[in-house]
Amino acid sequence: MGFTPNYLEPGTVLAGYQIESMIARGGMGVVYRAFDVQLNRPVALKLLAPEFAANDKFRQRFVRESRLAASVDHPNILPIYGAGESSGLLYIAMRYVRGTDVRAELEARGALPLAEVIRILGDTASALDAAHAAGLVHRDVKPGNILLSEDRADVHRHVYLTDFGLTKRTTSATGVTTAGHFLGTLDYVAPEQIRGEYVDGRADVYALACVAYTLLTGHPPFDHDDDSAQLWAHMTEEPPFLCAERPEVPSEIGLIIQAGMAKRREDRPTSCGALIGMMTPPSLANPPPVDSPGVAAGSAPEDANDDAVSPLRATPVQHGRPPGGSWHAAMALLKGKAWIPMALVAALFLIFGASLVLPQMSATNERVLFRSEGIPYTLEIPKSWTHHIRDRGESTVSVLSAADITALFADEPEAMAATARIVDLEPASVVGLAIYHRSPRVSNVLPAARIDAVEALLPGQAAKLTDRGPLTFGEVKARRMDGILPLSSTVTLQVRVCALETDPSQLLVFFAPSRLFEENVRVFDEVANSLRQPK
Ligand SMILES: Nc1ncnc2c1ncn2[C@@H]1O[C@H](COP(=O)(O)OP(=O)(O)OP(=O)(O)O)[C@@H](O)[C@H]1O
Ligand SMILES: [Mg+2]
Repeated sequence: MGFTPNYLEPGTVLAGYQIESMIARGGMGVVYRAFDVQLNRPVALKLLAPEFAANDKFRQRFVRESRLAASVDHPNILPIYGAGESSGLLYIAMRYVRGTDVRAELEARGALPLAEVIRILGDTASALDAAHAAGLVHRDVKPGNILLSEDRADVHRHVYLTDFGLTKRTTSATGVTTAGHFLGTLDYVAPEQIRGEYVDGRADVYALACVAYTLLTGHPPFDHDDDSAQLWAHMTEEPPFLCAERPEVPSEIGLIIQAGMAKRREDRPTSCGALIGMMTPPSLANPPPVDSPGVAAGSAPEDANDDAVSPLRATPVQHGRPPGGSWHAAMALLKGKAWIPMALVAALFLIFGASLVLPQMSATNERVLFRSEGIPYTLEIPKSWTHHIRDRGESTVSVLSAADITALFADEPEAMAATARIVDLEPASVVGLAIYHRSPRVSNVLPAARIDAVEALLPGQAAKLTDRGPLTFGEVKARRMDGILPLSSTVTLQVRVCALETDPSQLLVFFAPSRLFEENVRVFDEVANSLRQPK
């Protein structure tokens, strides 16, 4: 006999738990207050919708991750008492928390005071780092999954992080079920998780930074009604600067939250504790226990990354207090001659630079051999240029650069504005080469027609090229054209186009934000001269 989780009468016994009352209906099922008949204690019993039990992969992952979560013993991880399947339903029994959750808190009170946010998220970070060290990635860090206990009214409300591994990634990364129902929020999901890639603890760092932004402003960082606009924003839109809305919050905190929301996980702080630690000014590192001003009383492809859980090397974080040392390190450069531009640049370098700038500087010198199906030659390219490929109707385009901007060269709507935002955010990631696999042969036509044909192939309507005549490109005859490709009223890519006399004929478009073009021309020439056709 099967139960429907929505309609369990009080008194019903399921897997040894007697239902008392419904607490709330969530995205994946229903949470009841129940009673453990054998152990004689209250529990919260979450029953997942039957469609989840019907999905083998989900069921296996649910059981595996519930066990793993139960094995991580941490004061801020909600204790799990039992999990499994009964009467056709997946259930999870956990400690019953009398209190509220952070989403309800936000809805009731609006943006929260900084000290309170740091305290709640410091405890949450501590729970997440412990989970990462045990090989578990949460994947669904959000205010609704942070519970606040009111069991002990005399002290800070205790923080419990819940719902490990309970993402709705049953058929895709976006939480859309087979029935097409959307089952959760997309407000906090990391770009790599959206793409269905390998996910590690840095996806939780991203989500935690988005949660910090939300708690401090009252709304999520990327606030679009439309799901696809929301996903696109996570992948391409510059993370907003908190202090534009909360000018009284120190700008370092705004910068650190932005760093937590970096598109590339290697540009984020390395652990959740590091993120919140860097947000914690010394004055807040050891807040008085109660009633300090502003402190509230009390306190992808389907399952592509199922097994790709790799723990971060967790920064040890003391329970209950984010480490203040990181703040000192990050801010040391700002002290003394505080706020002079040099120091600001140095601090920015410390926060973003070590992971972002250095690899790119060295990567310009380090080359790897690039070869790909459909491209009848090899090239030696900078190591930082990764290969992204996309069908574009009749032809195909390969883009070699740090940022994935295939949508631009596939001439998709929105892609110009999105690329312009990436140029603002990370200009060096928009330096590279686009290869149009099959392009019109331009050798035997008049120069004007040649230019027209190539301009029409480039994104948008406004590309402007000048013919620079014939040249030998590596081992191959080619025509070269130089020009510009406007992305917005203020952002322009400069391009160097080479139409190759290969078979099939191919078009190579070197591109860089205009102000970075000159310093990359040498790299482009070297890549061009490295062209070899297999004998
Ligand atoms: N252990 C618990 N003790 C008391 N209340 C709980 C407990 N777990 C969850 N709740 C309450 O039930 C609500 C619904 O939880 P649930 O996890 O089903 O949904 P959600 O977190 O809103 O969404 P999602 O399904 O996407 O996680 C929570 O917001 C919380 O208020
Ligand atoms: Mg939940």
